[in-house]
Amino acid sequence: MEMRVAVAASGRGSNLAALLGELAKDGSGARVALVVSNSAEAGALAIARRHGIPVHVFENYSDPSEWNRVLQAAAIDLVVLAGYLKQVPADTVTTWRGRMINIHPALLPKHGGPGMYGARVHQAVIAAGDSQSGATVHLVSEEYDRGRILGQATVPVEPDDTPESLAARVLEVEHRLLPAAVLAAAREGRPVPFRLEDEPRSTAVSQLPSSLAP
Ligand code: GRF
Repeated sequence: MEMRVAVAASGRGSNLAALLGELAKDGSGARVALVVSNSAEAGALAIARRHGIPVHVFENYSDPSEWNRVLQAAAIDLVVLAGYLKQVPADTVTTWRGRMINIHPALLPKHGGPGMYGARVHQAVIAAGDSQSGATVHLVSEEYDRGRILGQATVPVEPDDTPESLAARVLEVEHRLLPAAVLAAAREGRPVPFRLEDEPRSTAVSQLPSSLAP
């Protein structure tokens, strides 16, 4: 049975595009069956339409009944937040507990939380003098960016990095990390800890330092 995935996005949708590319391969075990957004202008919607994927623009993205109605109508098994910039209604987070994941462009639990998105994240990493950054896929919980970490991949922070140059380096690993998370979820029937096979620097959750382990 193919896992039916809904992707929520507010922006250009490069993570959606990377996911579609990976799931199109034989044996992926999953398909993107719906793309939802808070914004009719989101580039992710144009990507979905080009792939013949149904889209839904929320009338009220704070309304859990609207979320649940569209997700159930599409028989969704897994919700992926990929550059979705609004708070998911708490009731929806509860309903989808264990079946909703998010990708964040930093090594949580560092540099996460309300308001930490886009360039602000990379500015914080540079300002902190971190030598590494990367991406994190985690389960969505009521607390922003605090759900169980399922997988991470690291990239170096270079001395001359700007938020833009770091964002571009992180985005590259995001485009590998998110598909790996969804493929692992499709194999196991639900989101599970995973690692990037070809990424020597990725950290399987089981190898996270105890301070970081969920
Ligand atoms: C990514 O950096 C993701 O980690 C963050 O928002 C950005 C989405 O980019 N949550 P895109 O819309 O997938 O290109």
